[in-house]
Amino acid sequence: MNIKKVGVVGCGLMGHGIVQVATQGGCTVIALETEQAYLDKGISRIEKSIAKLASKDVKKGKLTEDQAKDWATEVRGRITGSINREDLADCDLVVEAIVEDLDAKKELFGALGKLCKAETIFASNTSSFPVAEMAVASGRPERFVGLHFFNPVQLMRLVEVVRTDATDEDVYAAARAFSEACGKTPVSCKDTPGFVVNRLLVPYMVQAINMLDRGDASAADIDAAMQLGCGHPMGPLTLTDYVGLDTTLSILEGWCERYPNEPAFGIPDSLRSKVAEGKLGRKTGQGYYTWEGDKKS
Ligand code: 3HC
Repeated sequence: MNIKKVGVVGCGLMGHGIVQVATQGGCTVIALETEQAYLDKGISRIEKSIAKLASKDVKKGKLTEDQAKDWATEVRGRITGSINREDLADCDLVVEAIVEDLDAKKELFGALGKLCKAETIFASNTSSFPVAEMAVASGRPERFVGLHFFNPVQLMRLVEVVRTDATDEDVYAAARAFSEACGKTPVSCKDTPGFVVNRLLVPYMVQAINMLDRGDASAADIDAAMQLGCGHPMGPLTLTDYVGLDTTLSILEGWCERYPNEPAFGIPDSLRSKVAEGKLGRKTGQGYYTWEGDKKS
């Protein structure tokens, strides 16, 4: 099963990165959005990122200026933007990276199940929802996997490949091969809450927030401790701002609803109140830190 043509639904924070790594891996990609303005924003981020990677390769002496220019043109040339779901009909793989809303995802997969060719594999980039529920909604659970990429997709080297009890062995193998073509290392995960990374990472971020809220240490000291003491590239509070407080809260809310007796899934009050105030982290300029673009204070 060779994946050559890929559809990516959603061209936001995660989706634009998935479009990019899939095209860098040699696939042709249809990037689907609901509105032209969202599509334009996503494509423009991809163009900037491709230009950045190309110029880095020139600096490192891996490519000449001309080769870098050709590479960037070739990669960009494999992307077609669309706001029409029907354009995904003959894709070999469709990866969903829309808002974390289970009903919206189920509606999407229900529609795609009807319009895509019988061989199309479906994948969700969900961070926390049960993959099996979306698989059933698609009407082809045996051709469904989770493909969980990490932010920033262009730089993070992991993909969690999630299989349900219904996933065909061939489909799972094709999804792993696709992840590798995107330049990533796949790990195999069962359909459990948060898979491997978020099941460990989100409760850790919650503990850091609780520590800050109790006044045990400052945000800067908590982050410095984990960076310098454990070699993490970002401390947990910077990471919460980076992931987005809204995303973190929505992951926790979903888990609390499904697993009310799991103590690791508690929601800190400060997380709820900041989200209610629109302080969503780096993207809004306020979270556990104040941000100006990529710089925090
Ligand atoms: N495309 C191309 N280049 C990019 C880029 C992009 N999208 N984003 C950053 N870069 C480049 C930068 O421009 C910079 O280039 P330079 O060396 O020429 O200046 C280089 O990559 C390194 O970036 P930075 O200088 O900003 O800083 P860092 O060295 O700290 O690296 C980082 C940034 C890779 C994000 C690193 O801090 C890191 O690994 N942080 C942890 C991220 C993490 O844990 N992500 C997972 C989040 S959880 C998740 O996604 C799951 C979800 O379900 C919640």
